[in-house]
Amino acid sequence: MSTIKKLSFPENFWWGSAWSAEQAEGRGETGKAETVWERWYKEQPNRFYQRISSEITTDHIHRYKEDIQLMKQTGHNSFRVSISWARMFPQDGVGEVNPQAIAFYRDLFTEMNKNGIKVFANLYHFDMPAKLQDQGGWESRDVVEAYVHFAKTCFEEFGDLVFHWFTFNEPLGPILGSYLEDFHYPNLVDFKRGSQAAFFTILAHAKAIEVFKTYNLSSKIGVILNLSPTFPRSNNSADVKAAEIADLFYTRSFLDPMVKGNFPPKLVELLTEYDQLPLDFTQEDLATIQANTAQILGLNYYEPRRVKARLTAINPESPFLPEWFFENHVMPGRRMNEYRGWEIYEKGIYDLCMDIKNNYGNIEAFISENGMGVANEERFMDEDGQVIDEYRIEFIRDHLAYLWKAIDDGCNIKGYHLWTFIDCWSWINSYKNRYGLVSLDLPTQKRTIKKSGEFYKKLSDENGFNYDIDLLVL
Ligand code: BG6
Repeated sequence: MSTIKKLSFPENFWWGSAWSAEQAEGRGETGKAETVWERWYKEQPNRFYQRISSEITTDHIHRYKEDIQLMKQTGHNSFRVSISWARMFPQDGVGEVNPQAIAFYRDLFTEMNKNGIKVFANLYHFDMPAKLQDQGGWESRDVVEAYVHFAKTCFEEFGDLVFHWFTFNEPLGPILGSYLEDFHYPNLVDFKRGSQAAFFTILAHAKAIEVFKTYNLSSKIGVILNLSPTFPRSNNSADVKAAEIADLFYTRSFLDPMVKGNFPPKLVELLTEYDQLPLDFTQEDLATIQANTAQILGLNYYEPRRVKARLTAINPESPFLPEWFFENHVMPGRRMNEYRGWEIYEKGIYDLCMDIKNNYGNIEAFISENGMGVANEERFMDEDGQVIDEYRIEFIRDHLAYLWKAIDDGCNIKGYHLWTFIDCWSWINSYKNRYGLVSLDLPTQKRTIKKSGEFYKKLSDENGFNYDIDLLVL
């Protein structure tokens, strides 16, 4: 059977995409402090795919006018950038603000607005100034204060141009990467220090919101979280318990304090039992977190999390990690994006939105990232050099169909942003996996709209698309 229906999205739906300063701007000539990524590349270039650094990336700093035209041609009515802390404060993230950085961002945002593209501005996307990392990074209260000062400066300088603000992109990422799983500088494995850094990140989010509220701007401020619905392998109580614990670590840990203002009691209990709570926190910090929560929520959805009870015992001498309580489950029959190693499960977007509706007061939200990174896309180029990425179109349509269903079922979802607009640099994968609606020829910086870019334009113009709704399985 097949029932083709036009899936229409709410009026003024935000169609767009996102990227970040370090991944797209390039260093440029404005002056910029060294970031942890530049530092790490200098120390260990072998950790970066094909030894490509973030020095030039997609060279957006020189090409933003051309890029804004491409945004229009690919149907963007909104776009998320991040503002580089290191560029705004080139003396190692503190000190005098950089007039050249202000001029760059003001011009970029003005140009976006002139072209009908709403500015979603994120304040932190993994790009700590290296010298602030030396002072402890997110483990340091001084760094929290420096971040709040940076945030305040941005509200003052760009408040008239920004549509919505975000304190952090995926704050869990740097905790996993820097403190647990060795994929961010400074590559520690130390849960308790990670716990402190996580707590101060959450405090920084609350303090930035506290300051934001003093400006009476018409924009809102929120946070972008990477969330994966967690599924146990089976209904066996051991699998269910494993899934509950994984969900506490990876989903509720940031979602609850940043959106509801409090920490999940079960997580606090567990960390107390294993002596992994942060050492430095006060009642005043907790009150600040409680009083200053997100006004809008961005959901980055890439893949589900599947877990099962552990089969093997823990080596008590190994460092404490969330995996002490579960193992990842490789579900037989799962569909994979083999290039990135992530499962493709469209219905997860529906489950995630329903969780936010049912357990987080149906806060105003949007899909802030979703996308498909594919290697060697030149295989799919036609004779005119256009990438015919039917797989990406299918990926977007299938996810959007479940998003449409979530909205139909009452979720307060205001938009969909893809990762991403033009192929951009990725943290350690550099340019291996390409995500863009527009392809990038790295040596020449030539940009060419992919077939998915044309699809995205039509989707945005028509605010929907035709789909066989019999394919939706709830
Ligand atoms: C998100 C990040 O987790 O996923 C982006 O916010 C990142 O910065 C994107 O680039 C895709 O992941 P990756 O690792 O393939 O670049």
